[in-house]
Amino acid sequence: MGANVKKLRLGILASGGGTNLQSIIDRCQDGSLAADIAIIICNNPGAGALDRAKKSGIPHRCINHRDFSERQDFDRSVVSALQDADVELVVLAGFMRIISDVFLDAFPQRIINIHPALLPAFPGLHVQRKALEHGARFSGCTVHFVDSGVDTGRIILQAVVPVLDDDTEATLSARILEQEHKIYPRAIQLIAEGRLRIDGRRVLVEPATAPECQAIINPPLD
Ligand code: GRF
Repeated sequence: MGANVKKLRLGILASGGGTNLQSIIDRCQDGSLAADIAIIICNNPGAGALDRAKKSGIPHRCINHRDFSERQDFDRSVVSALQDADVELVVLAGFMRIISDVFLDAFPQRIINIHPALLPAFPGLHVQRKALEHGARFSGCTVHFVDSGVDTGRIILQAVVPVLDDDTEATLSARILEQEHKIYPRAIQLIAEGRLRIDGRRVLVEPATAPECQAIINPPLD
């Protein structure tokens, strides 16, 4: 990590088990990620992510979406908690709510998400199962900026994993999740370092680094 990188203030939103949240907590704590988690917000009182937040000692809140009759009112409440915590980047880590314009307008180009498929293939829910059912030979995960569509924002980083013949939804999900834990902190670090430039739909990393290999074929050639 560059010594002169100013730490980015993160607000992390989670609804589920929170393994991505944990990977970001760990990278902040070991100093490999130039970020401070200002606040963790869960919308689900039973979320494992909330337990992880409590254990970490990081400021956290549970804002239950069921307490709000309108989506926008829930979003307003989350946005004001994030603003009160001086959050610079909003990180959705398994946050299972659709974001309204209230949210997007408050943090323009400052909300990112991780999705367990190679976008633009398989947006939406249950995508590991859909990739299997479709017969895809590769899947993976995508970190992207959030826009008003479902998983349609500009792509920042992707990791590819093979789909194996004996995969189940659980084994494929686990293989993808392992990569999620690597690329999400990396994407945040690139933002902290100010290395991303938007060019139309594309997000360019500057200075550029070339990927390790040119092509992977599955099943492999003889
Ligand atoms: C991950 O697969 C993520 O890509 C998706 O939801 C899952 C969250 O897992 N958006 P966890 O709560 O981080 O363990």
